[in-house]
Amino acid sequence: MAAVGTWSFSRPAVERMRCMLLDGQNATDVVETAMAEVEDDVDTGRHIVGRGGFPNFKGVVECDAAIMEGEPGRFGAVAALKGIAQPCRVARKVMDRSPHSLLVGEGAESFAQEQGFISEPNNNMLSDHSATAYQEFLEKNKRVKDGHDTLGLIALDLSGNITVGVSTSGAPFKSPGRVGDSPLPGCGLYADHTVGAAAATGDGDKIMCYCPSFHVVQLMRQGLSPNEACHAVLADIQRRISGDKCFEIGLISLNMKGEVGAASSVAFPYTFWKQGMDLVKELVINQPK
Ligand code: GLY
Repeated sequence: MAAVGTWSFSRPAVERMRCMLLDGQNATDVVETAMAEVEDDVDTGRHIVGRGGFPNFKGVVECDAAIMEGEPGRFGAVAALKGIAQPCRVARKVMDRSPHSLLVGEGAESFAQEQGFISEPNNNMLSDHSATAYQEFLEKNKRVKDGHDTLGLIALDLSGNITVGVSTSGAPFKSPGRVGDSPLPGCGLYADHTVGAAAATGDGDKIMCYCPSFHVVQLMRQGLSPNEACHAVLADIQRRISGDKCFEIGLISLNMKGEVGAASSVAFPYTFWKQGMDLVKELVINQPK
């Protein structure tokens, strides 16, 4: 059993995953529940996730989320979804109950409503912080937030099932309809029950051009450890952009042995727990010296 999450703010989610895994729950329920709690928390919206996330340039919060199990073909995602505070739960329903894999915009919202989700007015999706940031953006064209703190979570359960999920409200003040890497399989996330799983965070407009999550899993298949695989994928991207300053990208991974890895082009805290550890641990990589 093991769990890993992107950024410091994933700690409560990884703690929740630890408790659920120790309770014998399956990896998909674990990821969905832990993710949904963060998505619905207005305070973590400032980390560009769910309720309280930064809106698009028209002031509307649009969220992307996805979930992928290690079993072949088990994937569901939503993109540019408005008015739903727990988009990962809709992504799970897409995986379980829809003949499709990715639903966007109004179609995703209609599907969510059919599945019993209540669409909330946009004001409910904003926090005081994100509403103020949006006003400043309108008045001064000033972005108080440039980051891309996507929440990525991976869980490996007692029965050996692995699931990865990601959730984001996307680039602050983005164009309406903009979708980043997060809900795209192979880009924002990937899982294979014979190998392991990976998730990405960072500048989704760039990340999606490199399929880094799929690449990490493929390298683990070839025998690299999660850490080696994440570093090899980052190095490959850096080599391909040949000397240009690398865009923001952070990668986390977990293999079927419960080994964890990460790599990043910027200072990147991630949190993890594995069987035998008493507490969730945080590591920061690529800290400026
Ligand atoms: N990585 C999240 C996004 O750019 O939307």
